[in-house]
Amino acid sequence: MQVRIIQSLFLIAFATLTAEAQVNSQTLALTPPMGWNDYNHYNMDISDAKIRSAADWMVSSGMRDAGYAYVNIDDGWEGERGVDGIPHPNNRFPDMKALADYVHAKGLRLGIYSSPGPETCGGMVGSYGHEAQDARMFAQRGIDYLKYDLCSYIPILKAYSKGDPAKSREREMEVHLKMENALRATGRPIVYSLCQYGRDMSWAWGPAVGANMWRTTADIKDNYDRMSVLGFSQAGLSRYVSPGHWNDPDMLEVGNGGMNRDEYQTHMSLWSLIAAPLTAGNDLTTMNDETKSILLNREVIAIDQDVLGRAGDRVYADGPIEVWTRPLANGDMAVGIFNRGDYQSPVELDMARIGIQHPVLARDLWAHKSLGRVSTPFNSVVPKHGVVLLRLSQRDDDRISE
Ligand code: GLA
Repeated sequence: MQVRIIQSLFLIAFATLTAEAQVNSQTLALTPPMGWNDYNHYNMDISDAKIRSAADWMVSSGMRDAGYAYVNIDDGWEGERGVDGIPHPNNRFPDMKALADYVHAKGLRLGIYSSPGPETCGGMVGSYGHEAQDARMFAQRGIDYLKYDLCSYIPILKAYSKGDPAKSREREMEVHLKMENALRATGRPIVYSLCQYGRDMSWAWGPAVGANMWRTTADIKDNYDRMSVLGFSQAGLSRYVSPGHWNDPDMLEVGNGGMNRDEYQTHMSLWSLIAAPLTAGNDLTTMNDETKSILLNREVIAIDQDVLGRAGDRVYADGPIEVWTRPLANGDMAVGIFNRGDYQSPVELDMARIGIQHPVLARDLWAHKSLGRVSTPFNSVVPKHGVVLLRLSQRDDDRISE
């Protein structure tokens, strides 16, 4: 019954999408968007100067060249909606177009934030009833990415649906589609990122409303318990991912100080295995070598950005040990052996359980080390809360390219 309701909602939504919208939502974000967003570090204490400085550091730290392309302004840029109907930035953002020009000149793109409700989560003005105007304003100012945060639309949904989940989903799809159509009508390619915390199974209908990505979870926090609960809860969601359409278990906390190296490696590995958008959220101005070694690990980024665009998933869990795999475009396989337990643990991986019958070439992506040809069982020692991340290849030559 529920499946049939979802299917008919898909049909309604697809029929409503304009041809232009369908083309755009299928050509943007063909690999998971990578970038930086101010919220995890600055919350709402942001300004033009901080965004410019983030753009500078994205370049000088090597983040841009590693693929982090979007500099995203979160909640806190908004001022009042003027008599012209347009939401003007507050006085910390004197000239949004000039800011976009600055970011673009660095070879980066600029993202912004709004809500389908009258107010954002931080109590600023949202796009409710002004979708077309706001989309035009974003496009005119050179915006390349919109994070659209449900927040104050939730009470509207509740009043409309009166506890009926199908009605709630239907209305939520409608309001998201409204902004999608407004964005596409501007003619500017703008990545469309839904932030509704995974309500109403966003992953099942995200593509139908033209979204390039959708949050699948509540907000992340900079501690292992929260990050791991959100990350490992993604098991079973891989089938909803395809090029242009990504599950988003929220932004990265790598480098914010609340987790140790093993835990941040788990964070980055898991997000890459499931093809999640990589949105860094740390203070770029004080990024240390350990943080750089995680965020800028190109072998791990290559897993996240693999052009096949198929997400990985959990193959099995044995107590605290979880094994996740992801198929890659050249026939390789990425494998994460995670230890969610509180003690370092030896792990004997029976390769047949991940579908490998013959010896394969293996590379350890955190140690940056080729392990040669490995056969079953593959033995490793996985630190508490840590991961061993491998790239396996069935090719005949003896090396896996770095
Ligand atoms: C919500 C979102 C966060 C952030 C804040 C801003 O909580 O989930 O990612 O955008 O709002 O107020």
